[in-house]
Amino acid sequence: MVTLTINQKKITCDEDLTILEAAKENHILIPHFCYLEGVHQIGSCRICVVEVEGARTLQPSCMVKVRDGMVVHTNSEKVKKARKLLYELMLSDHPHDCLSCPRNQNCEFQKLGELIQIDEFRFEGERSKTFIDDSSPSIVRDTSKCILCRRCVTVCNQIQGVGVLNAQHRGFKTVIGAADELPLNSVNCAFCGQCTTVCPVGALQEKDAISEVWKALFDKNKRVVIQTAPAIRAALGEEFGYPPGTLVTGKMVTALREIGFDDIFDTNFAADLTIIEEGNELLQRVKAAFSGGKAVLPMITSCSPGWIKYIEHAFPEEVDHLSTCKSPHMMMGALVKSYYAEKIGVDPKDIFVVSVMPCTAKKFEITRPEMVNNGCPNVDAVLTTRELARMIKDAGIDFTELKDSSFDNPLGMSTGAADIFAATGGVMEAALRTVYEIITGKELPFEQLHVKPIVGLSQIKTAEITIEDPLPEYDFLKGVTLKVAVTSGLSGAKQLMDQVAQGKSPYHFIEVMGCPGGCISGGGQPRPTNNNIRKKRLEAIYREDEGKELRKSHENPFIAEIYEKFLKEPLGHKSHELLHTKYTKRGVYNEYLK
Ligand code: FES
Repeated sequence: MVTLTINQKKITCDEDLTILEAAKENHILIPHFCYLEGVHQIGSCRICVVEVEGARTLQPSCMVKVRDGMVVHTNSEKVKKARKLLYELMLSDHPHDCLSCPRNQNCEFQKLGELIQIDEFRFEGERSKTFIDDSSPSIVRDTSKCILCRRCVTVCNQIQGVGVLNAQHRGFKTVIGAADELPLNSVNCAFCGQCTTVCPVGALQEKDAISEVWKALFDKNKRVVIQTAPAIRAALGEEFGYPPGTLVTGKMVTALREIGFDDIFDTNFAADLTIIEEGNELLQRVKAAFSGGKAVLPMITSCSPGWIKYIEHAFPEEVDHLSTCKSPHMMMGALVKSYYAEKIGVDPKDIFVVSVMPCTAKKFEITRPEMVNNGCPNVDAVLTTRELARMIKDAGIDFTELKDSSFDNPLGMSTGAADIFAATGGVMEAALRTVYEIITGKELPFEQLHVKPIVGLSQIKTAEITIEDPLPEYDFLKGVTLKVAVTSGLSGAKQLMDQVAQGKSPYHFIEVMGCPGGCISGGGQPRPTNNNIRKKRLEAIYREDEGKELRKSHENPFIAEIYEKFLKEPLGHKSHELLHTKYTKRGVYNEYLK
């Protein structure tokens, strides 16, 4: 521990802290900009400068560690002048079109200007050459808005390990983007959108689908069906001033009804269906492996489209490890345009399916040629949580005053197992709840059904479950220890995939989510997202699960009904046609490989 003085206040703190962190711990706010909690190593903006007695120059408080006896001034005349000048220089190369910017009122640069009290544009000079890259279906880059903070570079390289975004060129010509200024669609970007969650301005945004959805809603000939992913209900409230971790399921459904959607379904229903299909696929592979046959193990989950794009680029030879199940919202789209269309007597071509997803990669996923049945795309548009909030505001709905209402049936009913799809480890736990019961006829032997070792935010989590007493038809599994691993974030996935590629993976089943923490902190979720917010959203998801009467996917009565009346059996002919898919081997330039 060290003792130092900040603005005449004596404070004692851990010697590993930076001045910025020590000040924050003691409720002294130092304006900062490029700083990114937990991973910051760059110090590019210098907005956080402070005066340290004895130092010749002003010091970046986000980079300089505290020292015993240090005396720091965060608001001296010198500091204030420097901070203002630095801000004005950034502003001199930034467009002044806040009113038409999607980040208006939600822009960290704008907020900082208010804090520093900028009331004029003092410097007008040469502007950098800029361009808009809207080549990808998921993310739009507008380099005119970029203030070179490099947070996206940190996330793309250090957290996700994808390494697409980097600083290109030098000095005034610096631009953040892919090598050779290639558009995002021509490189190995996973479209996870984590860069869009940390971008403080409007330089990196999800591709807007709002106008397309309004157009469908205004079309009298369209039946517009919407579904919402499990993670939305635990985060949407933040856009309306609720504290992180507030569940707004009922208000969200009412808002969708007031906007004018014809049917409001829950992606959770399809998450339950995924467990039945994926669980049976796992059993089929395990059965083959343990009865002398051939099987590709470990099997790896396929719900996260950012992860799927990543493996197609980084480990194209290993795509057979992926479950063939489509992700839950694609399954839902396929069912709406087949089973439900038939039930209500509407031509699938007149149905427009919208998915509200916590994820920007889902916007890419719906464009995949495999996601089409009978000439109709399974899903027509994807809105992120942030976009849905904008739509609700645009519709003049007073969200906080809404009464709760429920999803429509039959595709709106779900179990607690489906809720936890939103959290890292959730798909695995949900699958184990069902698979273990199929094999043994007994409930998973864990308190509250939670497989504790795989719950939480650690990067890689593992668990083992020994099958002691299987039902007679699964006798070949007697004494077998099933080994599972869970990871979220693409750098964790790389570690597990290196083992798989070398043939050294000890696991039978692996869950991978492309974003750190899983869908609760996906690339389309409200900003900001940090570990504290992740924990709160996670707790909300587990509360939702524990509050449900039915907590295992195979207990969902509407799932039983859909098999009886339509799909007939898991992994059957209809399931394969509608609910399963295949993958594409890709090179680093997004080219198809053989
Ligand atoms: Fe410290 Fe940018 S916040 S240098």
